[in-house]
Amino acid sequence: TDSGLVDSFGRRAEDLRISLTDKCSLRCTYCMPAEGLPWLAKQAVLDDDEIVRLAGIFIELGVSSIRLTGGEPLVRPGVAALVARLAEFRPRPELSLTTNAIALADQAEALTRAGLDRVNVSLDTLDAGVFHRLTRRDRLDDVLAGLAAAQASGLYPVKINAVLMREVNLQEGGALLGWALRGGYELRFIEHMPLDAQHAWSRADMVTADEILQVLQADYVLRPIGRRHNAPAEQFEVLDGPGRDQWAGPSPQVGIIASVTRPFCRDCDRLRLTADGQLRTCLFAHVETDLRALLRDGASDVEIAGAVRGAVAAKPSGHGITLPGFRQPERPMSAIGG
Ligand code: GTP
Ligand code: 5AD
Ligand code: SF4
Repeated sequence: TDSGLVDSFGRRAEDLRISLTDKCSLRCTYCMPAEGLPWLAKQAVLDDDEIVRLAGIFIELGVSSIRLTGGEPLVRPGVAALVARLAEFRPRPELSLTTNAIALADQAEALTRAGLDRVNVSLDTLDAGVFHRLTRRDRLDDVLAGLAAAQASGLYPVKINAVLMREVNLQEGGALLGWALRGGYELRFIEHMPLDAQHAWSRADMVTADEILQVLQADYVLRPIGRRHNAPAEQFEVLDGPGRDQWAGPSPQVGIIASVTRPFCRDCDRLRLTADGQLRTCLFAHVETDLRALLRDGASDVEIAGAVRGAVAAKPSGHGITLPGFRQPERPMSAIGG
């Protein structure tokens, strides 16, 4: 009877992103204001038992990959212990983490031992001054130490997410790529989406995938090789460029996540659970399904699974960012989950 979680457009949801907290150790200007945001109350946030129970239900429904996000997930205590519990499920889900890497120097080893498979690290610049201005914290060295620890502990691949902004770090695109190729990191550039707490996003200010390609092609020879199944990034093989003899790995590539100008909604296999237990079938959805209320009202697994199926059936076709009636969701990305 297990038909999996198929929506009305025939997409199968297999990837669950669980936000562990809405808090963060950085204050990236494109994400949140300097003073932070009104954080969720502790009792509003799902505890480990609640997360594990829901994860089990999702796995039963066909989810095969779980990504832990935030905010910054590692500001929550005990993430390694949670990973260890998620790694006990059979079939065992793939377990990954999206992090700013500040706490990775301390935690990468324990997370890996607990069963974490891989990490995606947000890093927009290699210039300490630009990093400080952009994140409002002087922590570039901690991030670089975290990245080194991730590689040393065997997490693979280590991906880097970079948001480029005009007048901030757009011209650094080529240098970031050179650094990633030498270090053996899988770099992806991301189009900024209208999910900032300040509602300051504008289509005209957004750096597009085409612009990013132009910047990169000033130094590098790139060949498009398409998107991997259900992956958000378009991949490009790097055929040539500065410092080529120092590149690590057999297949140098760079990715571009063009969520706005070339959306991948048609192939989206994602579901999101917010830190306060709301199921969202799309980053940009205006509807949330309150799984926390079901959990805390004593609902059975079958009842919760029914609510999940119902939500998935109603998953919207896409975000419509560039359509006339588009409205940004109430919650910013840090509260929804990255
Ligand atoms: P893998 O491909 O499995 O490594 O993960 P990922 O790239 O999906 O995860 P990550 O958390 O690193 O997300 C990278 C970027 O992808 C985010 O910053 C978003 O810009 C974009 N992204 C992630 N999920 C979604 C989504 O559901 N919709 C859209 N439009 N963009 C998303
Ligand atoms: N649009 C696109 N990416 C964003 N990120 C944060 N805010 C936005 C946004 N509005 C990125 C971070 C991180 C990932 C989880 O999301 O840089 O890499
Ligand atoms: Fe924190 Fe990520 Fe937002 Fe930066 S983008 S402030 S690292 S949640």
